[in-house]
Amino acid sequence: MVKRLTAVDIAARKGASPLVVLTSYTAPMASVLDSHVDILLVGDSLGMVVYGFDSTLPVTLDMMINHGAAVVRGSKRALVVVDMPFGSYQASKEEAFHACARVMAQTGAQAVKLEGGAEMAETIRFLVMRGIPVMGHVGLMPQRVNALGGYRYQGRSDSEAATILHDAQAVEQAGVFSMVMEGVKEEVARHVTGQLRVPTIGIGASPACDGQVLVIDDMLGFNSGYVPGFVKTYAHLAEAVEQAVKTYAEEVRNRTFPSAEYCYPLKKN
Ligand code: KIV
Repeated sequence: MVKRLTAVDIAARKGASPLVVLTSYTAPMASVLDSHVDILLVGDSLGMVVYGFDSTLPVTLDMMINHGAAVVRGSKRALVVVDMPFGSYQASKEEAFHACARVMAQTGAQAVKLEGGAEMAETIRFLVMRGIPVMGHVGLMPQRVNALGGYRYQGRSDSEAATILHDAQAVEQAGVFSMVMEGVKEEVARHVTGQLRVPTIGIGASPACDGQVLVIDDMLGFNSGYVPGFVKTYAHLAEAVEQAVKTYAEEVRNRTFPSAEYCYPLKKN
């Protein structure tokens, strides 16, 4: 029986080999990724890459619960972390607890992630003290896109760099077991990572972090929209799918599919 990684195992990886993290939203994809990654992140990026919204803001708790449960069903070894959607945790620590408790109980995930710095520290402490492992998320916080005026990378000025360090230390002291650092300049990512006891997981934040995360659809070339410059495309699945569908459509139209081996009684083998 395969033992699933825990938040405690992940926290202990600080300074060891880099943590491998990918987003995942469905059971079949989770089962392919499971043995290759340390963490499967059910990111609220699903609002953009699965549902076609133009930001993560419309994502609901029910969506996250449904996809979180699917990813847990599809995996055995990786730690599953579910993102808390916009509006589900900011109003009060008590509301955050109710929302996180629903996610933990109804998905079987081992941890949640929430965006925020010093202003979220009290909430994070409240959750952690009540048995909910929390992953932090500092730097560029996509749920704040309207306040930020776009998805601009962070840490450009000394004061922005100081804010990122202050936020990271505040959420660390509140008890996170690791944190995503998104869209941050390399020297800032290196400095912050060096100051923390918990692992940082970078996205667009250089190799100076303790691990890396990418959105699965982006790295597989399955994103028809904007792909950020920090994404390396490891496969071109949209093109492969289009080619397969084109061949299928031609074969249906010229009646070469289904051929005899695909008709009952089946003549395959
Ligand atoms: O929602 C998400 O997928 C994320 C990652 C980009 C870190 O938060």
